[in-house]
Amino acid sequence: MIGVLVSGEGTNLQALIDDGLPIVAVASNKPGVRALQRARTAGIATAVFDAAEYETREERDAAMADWLESRGVRLVVCAGFMHLLRTPFLERFAGRIVNTHSAPLPDFPGARPIEDVLAAGVRETAATVHYVDEGVDTGAVILAERIPVRPGDTVETLRARVQAVEHRLLPRAVRMLCER
Ligand code: GAR
Repeated sequence: MIGVLVSGEGTNLQALIDDGLPIVAVASNKPGVRALQRARTAGIATAVFDAAEYETREERDAAMADWLESRGVRLVVCAGFMHLLRTPFLERFAGRIVNTHSAPLPDFPGARPIEDVLAAGVRETAATVHYVDEGVDTGAVILAERIPVRPGDTVETLRARVQAVEHRLLPRAVRMLCER
């Protein structure tokens, strides 16, 4: 049983839904995002865990972990979830949290990887699915697929090509983990 964490558009969540994976819960740190709408359309339970409503991020993360566990979640997928998870959450789902990242790791961690790849002038990037640990995108890589950076690429054109790969790679990685 899979729980997905989201913050925005939810195109990766959609790819997981379309793949027929057993998603039982979708949690967002932001209300009103398109990802929540996608989950509701698919008949999946949703909840919002807005950090502004909790004293600390640890408390917010603990509440989110409680909710996911109450829904029977065993594997957590961060699909465009833009907050770092704190220790209480990481301990509860140790070794069972994965993330999709739109650049090669460990070379380009962080929140603006497409911009960083373009600024570095490298000729190749990647879509990467990796385990989540305490660091910023430092967990072991599960699957990665290389993508050429083309001359004249902008943030928009490169993001579109990387995301098209993510939408294939993330469901494949999650299915692999489910079948283990
Ligand atoms: C995805 O491309 C994902 O790799 C990126 O945000 C996008 C979310 O799109 N995540 C990160 O950069 C995390 N460090 P989505 O909401 O449409 O799935």
